[in-house]
Amino acid sequence: MITCERLTKTFQSVTAIQDLSITIPDGCIFGLLGPNGAGKTTTMRMLSCLIQPTSGKAHIDSYEIGNKEDAQHIRKMIGLLPEVPGLYETLGAYKNLDFYAQLYGVPKKQREESIQTTLTNLDLWDRRDEPVGGFSKGMKQKIAIARALIHDPKYIFLDEPTASLDPMAAKVVREYILELKKKGNTILINTHNLSEAERICDSVALVKNRIVKVGNPKDLAKGLFTRTINITIKKIPSTLLKDIESFSLVSQAHVQGNQLILNVKNPEEDNPQIITWLLKQGLQIQFISEEEHSLEDVYLKLIEEAGQ
Ligand SMILES: Nc1ncnc2c1ncn2[C@@H]1O[C@H](COP(=O)(O)OP(=O)(O)OP(=O)(O)O)[C@@H](O)[C@H]1O
Ligand SMILES: [Mg+2]
Repeated sequence: MITCERLTKTFQSVTAIQDLSITIPDGCIFGLLGPNGAGKTTTMRMLSCLIQPTSGKAHIDSYEIGNKEDAQHIRKMIGLLPEVPGLYETLGAYKNLDFYAQLYGVPKKQREESIQTTLTNLDLWDRRDEPVGGFSKGMKQKIAIARALIHDPKYIFLDEPTASLDPMAAKVVREYILELKKKGNTILINTHNLSEAERICDSVALVKNRIVKVGNPKDLAKGLFTRTINITIKKIPSTLLKDIESFSLVSQAHVQGNQLILNVKNPEEDNPQIITWLLKQGLQIQFISEEEHSLEDVYLKLIEEAGQ
């Protein structure tokens, strides 16, 4: 488990992240979302023991970040995909991975198997001997992902893993991340791809140099937006809008084509009465649905409200 208590990092006059308190349970995919400069990479670097926190605490299992003796244990437990891949450009893909695996003390046979499997999965086995300096941005990113996983770490930190990948490669990586979760790994991911976060994260924190909101991406919209019901009606009479506006359960109504769109405070309670009323008017209801709000809607609303 990862726990952060009021974790703060200040660089001279810039506070990158302040009072971050989150818990990431084992086996969970946790997303850090936020605008450029929100403190996501800084948080990941603190948790990877690359930089010291200014104040606050964080633990990975029983080890404390910022504690020099614990740092070597933490580094073994985590695999980091940094924002910039930082590979040995003159070395081939295989040799890059083998070099890191040796640093982590991975036995030879396990190294060979692991490198072959990851390079094959990421579609780079045939290019294994080419110097990575000649690789495309996305190919380098894939090698850096493979490198983060080479020592079979329990915790995997991925800073924008799919940022430079084509849609097919991004899908492969997302599926890979879900596989790692199934295997029992705990994954922290920084991403600007909100639909990706919505699909794979069990929990997300919206940050803007401090926490704006934390929760399950599917639950974050609850209570944030006026609830809107779309009712598709076979033929909408011209007087309907006027009649329904006088109906006290509806706070706002408009018509778009053959859709009646209503703002309703408490749809669970009010919808049955509204439908009964519409049926009494002799209208033929074809479909009824509630408007859904995506993680992007939630993000844009909350980040804007968070201001400067
Ligand atoms: N080494 C550093 N020295 C000075 N300021 C830094 C340093 N690292 C980060 N910062 C500042 O901390 C703030 C947060 O940066 P960080 O890289 O953590 O943001 P981010 O959320 O990862 O942004 P992005 O989405 O653009 O990657 C920024 O204002 C940045 O300039
Ligand atoms: Mg970043």
